Amino acid sequence: MVQNGKRIYIFDTTLRDGEQSPGVSLNSDEKLAIAQQLARLGVDVIEAGFPIASPGDFSSVSRIAKEVKGPIIAGLARTGEADIKSAYEAVKHAERPRIHTFVATSKIHMTKKLCKTEEEVKEMVAKYVKMAKSLVDDVEFSAEDAFRSEIPFLCEVFTLAIDAGANVINIPDTVGYATPWEFGEFVKAIREGVPNIDKAVISVHCHNDLGLAVANSLAAVRNGAQQVEVAVNGIGERAGNASLEEVVMALYTRRNYLGFSTSINTRELYRTSTMVSRLTGMRVQHNKAIVGKNAFAHEAGIHQDGVIKERTTYEIMNPEMVGISSNKLVLGKHSGRHAFKLQLEKLGFNLNEEILEKIFNEFKALADRKSEILDEDLITLVDNEMFADSEQVYELNHMRVTLGTNITATSTIGMLVQGKPVEEAACADGPIEASYAAINKIVKLPARLESYNINAVTHGKDAQGEVVVRVAIDGKTFMGRGLSVDIIESSVRAYINALNKIVRAQPELLQERQ
Ligand code: KIV
Ligand code: ZN
Repeated sequence: MVQNGKRIYIFDTTLRDGEQSPGVSLNSDEKLAIAQQLARLGVDVIEAGFPIASPGDFSSVSRIAKEVKGPIIAGLARTGEADIKSAYEAVKHAERPRIHTFVATSKIHMTKKLCKTEEEVKEMVAKYVKMAKSLVDDVEFSAEDAFRSEIPFLCEVFTLAIDAGANVINIPDTVGYATPWEFGEFVKAIREGVPNIDKAVISVHCHNDLGLAVANSLAAVRNGAQQVEVAVNGIGERAGNASLEEVVMALYTRRNYLGFSTSINTRELYRTSTMVSRLTGMRVQHNKAIVGKNAFAHEAGIHQDGVIKERTTYEIMNPEMVGISSNKLVLGKHSGRHAFKLQLEKLGFNLNEEILEKIFNEFKALADRKSEILDEDLITLVDNEMFADSEQVYELNHMRVTLGTNITATSTIGMLVQGKPVEEAACADGPIEASYAAINKIVKLPARLESYNINAVTHGKDAQGEVVVRVAIDGKTFMGRGLSVDIIESSVRAYINALNKIVRAQPELLQERQ
């Protein structure tokens, strides 16, 4: 989007801090798809992960670095040799690689967590920023828990980091404790207290524990921050990070007052939000600013009347601006390939013929069960195809459920386990519980259902029900999604989807059961 005003860099941490949200675990294909969408959205930096955290993290960061073109690709590293080398190995193939290294600088973190003195922390900063700089040109240094650190010490640390080669210095409010006025003053004090600050970009990273992350980020920008670290839908540790779409739309909508611009293509915001929500299983609350279901809905008669007469009476932003289309084309069972392909293209999907053919067949099957196929239905069909388990250990073959009032529900589930048909039945108080019990008899995994959520994908009585479950095993949680016009079937599919993720991540569980 072409805008005037001082440019603010958008650093997206959905795949790193966002992925640290409780219960979120994305596989490599999902991370790559999100990274590609972030590139389409126009973010300046994608923090792709924390490479030393696990081999899976390392390989997803490295895949994103190799395949995603446009944004800077950053990998996170603590101030230590192994972390920095691993981050370098993961990002080195990117067009523009960045190492993002950090150490805590608040008294409480230094004494209680790191068990280091101020001098030791300063030595670490100088040594490891220099090491990172010897490997890549672009180095960001973060002072973890900066907002609860002593300003004079923080200024010394940032001065050292910049001298050692950091071209971005980041000021996190790690625990989301700041208020906007204070945070603005804090950023200003650092800008004025670091003598070599003109050699670096000032960045901020605000957590949302008090619901102030976006306000704090804006206050920082007004006081000299040029980079804002954000996550799509505001996901992240605990209450999350500053929400990308809120920061971007506040900067855009109030550009005349604030005087800043970003490189974000705002028309991709809704699609990005929907994709992240689907793949992480983290629902967006209906009244969430910018991308919530109700963000542009006018319920009160007086509001509806005003909007019909003149949209701007009650709307400060236009839904099309964020990619919410008012013209939701409806397809049905008589729609042909051409209309289908055209609508997918309008939604931003340019799929190859093979995938298109598969999705078209799914579309026809769905159209037999549902009279109107809306945009959301199409998006879910594409998602299902793109993120289908390529090697499914467990597949649903058939199901038969009996239920009613005053009778015990019975479910018979037929599955293919590595291609071999198996059938089991179970009874319980409800049909979903009975179905899950039958599946458990088949898979024999010590899995525990942690949460279950159901949502209608579109409106209307024939809407598809999307079920998201979280299934825990050995202290780890796996998310599963299932979709159908029949909610018992979606529930079964969601559970099987999570079980497939479990055995893919821990194949030994399967061997133990053979
Ligand atoms: O919240 C935080 O301090 C972080 C740093 C690693 C930037 O996420
Ligand atoms: Zn953080």
